[in-house]
Amino acid sequence: MAIVTSTEMFKKAYEGGYAIGAFNVNNMEIIQGITEAAKEQNAPLILQVSSGARKYANHTYLMKLIEAAVIETNLPICVHLDHGDTFELCKSCIDGGFTSVMIDGSHHSFEDNIKLTRQVVEYAHDHGVVVEGELGRLAGIEDKVNVSAEDASYTRPEEVEEFVSRTGVDSLAIAIGTSHGAYKFKPGTKPQLRFDILEKIQKLIPGFPIVLHGASSVVQKFVTMINENGGNMPDAIGIPEDMLRKAASMAVCKINIDSDLRLAMTGTIRKYFAENPSHFDPRQYLKPARQAIKEMVEHKIVNVLGCNGKA
Ligand code: G3H
Ligand code: 13P
Ligand code: ZN
Repeated sequence: MAIVTSTEMFKKAYEGGYAIGAFNVNNMEIIQGITEAAKEQNAPLILQVSSGARKYANHTYLMKLIEAAVIETNLPICVHLDHGDTFELCKSCIDGGFTSVMIDGSHHSFEDNIKLTRQVVEYAHDHGVVVEGELGRLAGIEDKVNVSAEDASYTRPEEVEEFVSRTGVDSLAIAIGTSHGAYKFKPGTKPQLRFDILEKIQKLIPGFPIVLHGASSVVQKFVTMINENGGNMPDAIGIPEDMLRKAASMAVCKINIDSDLRLAMTGTIRKYFAENPSHFDPRQYLKPARQAIKEMVEHKIVNVLGCNGKA
């Protein structure tokens, strides 16, 4: 099996009423944990790399680690640029072997977003690579951009058809109330997503794959594990799993998860050091951390995404 685009994955996911997990990767243990889980569940997979991840680990290292994962698992794996913000960054990832890129022009005006996205689509399609665009603005932190809740805005369904047809994008990220990071809803409030917007969009562009960013559920077990082992995280609330399952049964074909992996890894390492304060071999604490990632991803595949057995 080779590194693939998401075209086939999304087509089957749309028809089958499930979603593909797009997990952020930054190092070998994260890649191993995710891909081992996908192999056990025979699940198709998107591994996504942010520009921060690329700066941290280096493009070539990440690419070679993912190639190793394809050899080890024999799974269809799509390699995706998460939140590309310039044409040059997208081009560099396309030239460097990614099969999918996101151009996030959501911070620009509608016309400038279309112009930038169209430019990336032309280059990407010439090279057999698919493109995710974004309309609407999520709250939260991603790379250099911190969008406050006040500056966030839901996707306007009336703009979607024009955006998709003028840009030629292959999938579209929309804002319906999810947000990046561990603090998605105020403590004491009831998490809510705008399924009415998703429904409208689905009706306007039937069959077109929709992407949900900021979709970690912020698994409480790991927040507690962090706080019981020297951490000090405020109350954190994520997206309830039943809402993600509902989105996956609709037009949402790609669900982005990063924060839950970070929490699993950090909670497990904090616990390890609390229990083994004299240890200093990185393999000793990275092994349970990798296992925690694997269990988290298996849980997502089976209970949230529904893509088990679909590779
Ligand atoms: O949406 C952003 C992802 O969680 C990636 O985060 O830019 O800190 O690597 P990062
Ligand atoms: P979370 O912060 O909810 O994991 O979202 C990740 C994401 O959207 C990556 O693009
Ligand atoms: Zn995102």
